[in-house]
Amino acid sequence: MCGIVGYVGNRGSLDVLVGGLKRLEYRGYDSAGVAVIDPEGRLGTRKHAGKLGVLTDDLGATPLADGHTGIGHTRWATHGGPTDENAHPHLGDDGRLALIHNGIIENFGELKDELAAAGHTFSSETDSEVAALLVGDAYRATGDLTQAMLQVVNRLEGAFTLLAVHAEQPGVVVGARRNSPLVIGLGEGENFLGSDVAAFVAYTRRAMEIGQDQLVTIRPDSVEIVDFGGAPVDASTFEVDWDASAAEKGGWSSFMAKEISEEPEAVAKTIIGRVDDGLVRIPELDGLDEGFLSTIDRVVVIACGTAAYAGMVGKYAIEQWARVPVDVELAHEFRYREPVLGPNTLVVSISQSGETMDTLMAVKYARKEGAKTLSICNTQGATIPRESDAVVYTHAGPEVAVASTKAFVAQITAMYLFGIQLGQVRGTLDDARARELVRELQAVPDKLATVLATGDRIRELARWMADTQSVLFLGRHVGYPVALEGALKLKELAYIHAEGFAAGELKHGPIALIEPGQVVFVIVPSPRDTNSLHAKVVSNIQEIRARGARVIAIAEAGDAAVLPHADEVIRIPLASPFFEPLLAVVPLHIFGMELAAAKGLDVDQPRNLAKSVTVE
Ligand code: G6P
Repeated sequence: MCGIVGYVGNRGSLDVLVGGLKRLEYRGYDSAGVAVIDPEGRLGTRKHAGKLGVLTDDLGATPLADGHTGIGHTRWATHGGPTDENAHPHLGDDGRLALIHNGIIENFGELKDELAAAGHTFSSETDSEVAALLVGDAYRATGDLTQAMLQVVNRLEGAFTLLAVHAEQPGVVVGARRNSPLVIGLGEGENFLGSDVAAFVAYTRRAMEIGQDQLVTIRPDSVEIVDFGGAPVDASTFEVDWDASAAEKGGWSSFMAKEISEEPEAVAKTIIGRVDDGLVRIPELDGLDEGFLSTIDRVVVIACGTAAYAGMVGKYAIEQWARVPVDVELAHEFRYREPVLGPNTLVVSISQSGETMDTLMAVKYARKEGAKTLSICNTQGATIPRESDAVVYTHAGPEVAVASTKAFVAQITAMYLFGIQLGQVRGTLDDARARELVRELQAVPDKLATVLATGDRIRELARWMADTQSVLFLGRHVGYPVALEGALKLKELAYIHAEGFAAGELKHGPIALIEPGQVVFVIVPSPRDTNSLHAKVVSNIQEIRARGARVIAIAEAGDAAVLPHADEVIRIPLASPFFEPLLAVVPLHIFGMELAAAKGLDVDQPRNLAKSVTVE
């Protein structure tokens, strides 16, 4: 949601801003705009509803006087529809100040009344314009953009990232954040601000974190951070571990196609550096100390969407390997029901972006209640890791398509690693068993490569099913979250009604949905499994087939028992049951993408969705 870019330096700022916005497009948006200060000290702005192309076409047709200082914004509408007027930047101080905003200013109503009483008129329906007018007035009183922003941020309630420039201060961009993303990019004689590092990684990979309730002033040669009380703050820098080409489509038809192809690599890279002498050793867990790991009496996983399904897969594995109870909860449900947490509870958040507001608020709540928090996150410099006691980064690389694919398999991998280490520490896994699990996990990337090779057949199936109105997914044990993920992907990408069920639940309701022609994907457990789930799921297939369902089974290579009953069988390589989700989910990712493509839909930016959901 909302992409933000700020620039000061010696390059033409429009290029940097538009390029940065392009790289932030994946976050989801419905309008875009820029503001630049030209060499004569004039502030120019341009903004439009629609995709970035509408803005760039206009800039091409009627150029804006460029300079070396500017801000750019992609808006995801909250207050007021996606119109030119509601697009950012908004102006203050009689058009001399421009401001962009991400988040929601909760007390904007009363502030708007106050501004109206003082004689201000409004040209948009947004909460953001209120901030622009307030900072404009504060600038008039103080003559300094940093001071003006400081005064105003202390009056705002809610979540926000604000960036502002003033015509009288070329070479200065001021940014502030509260519960909303902002990262600083450090260059030579130039500096950047961005919602995430993708905004500036084409120019620099050196970045600096900015904490909650902090304000930053960038100039070409300096970066100053203060807290909202005005006291200087030290910030840490980090090196972005991917370059601009990693966030480009290459020769692929979509970012999602590229990202699915990177699933083996995402698993492999998440394992690297975390295995020592055949056992798991995640250095980042030192932040929690081993003593604590052995005293954990409960793990609570909080996450949203796909990440929550990764948590469910992790639950099965961690409970088995470490014998610790694990609850998985949707982050937005978590804090509103006053969950019971104690000093020996470990709250594990899972988030690709590290910015999902629901998850962030749940993490903050857990910490306030005295629980220890571990973040599993794919994005360096993001907010959730900063708010957690420890972070295990997944190394899936930048994920651009809105719906998560490679990050999902990396999240599951991180949960497996964590579960094995927990089992080692607690003595529930002996070294021999732990080493065996590690070897199996390390073998997954090669197996994934063979699953990717089934892509052509899945594409054919998807094309054949382009008019399908409803698809069901069934799974059991670790196959259940895979079924949920398969259904979510179809909703997100192909706008098809899809549901995932635990196969055992079939007879308790969902079987009523089965009528002739109903497509049902079934994730079949391994026949080598000792708990006889395979036979039960094969029976389920027979039950739905008898009622006319068209069954597509995802089954282990060599599993002959499914053949007579399924209409189609997609094979996955042999793996121990806990690692099957990594293999079984890939055909479902491909299916969702191909069905959306067959329907002519934009698989990277599905309607109504945002990659980084930074509002509750
Ligand atoms: C959005 C996306 C989902 C994603 C969820 C959680 O809703 O559309 O695909 O799973 O956010 O995102 P996170 O960044 O926290 O993993």
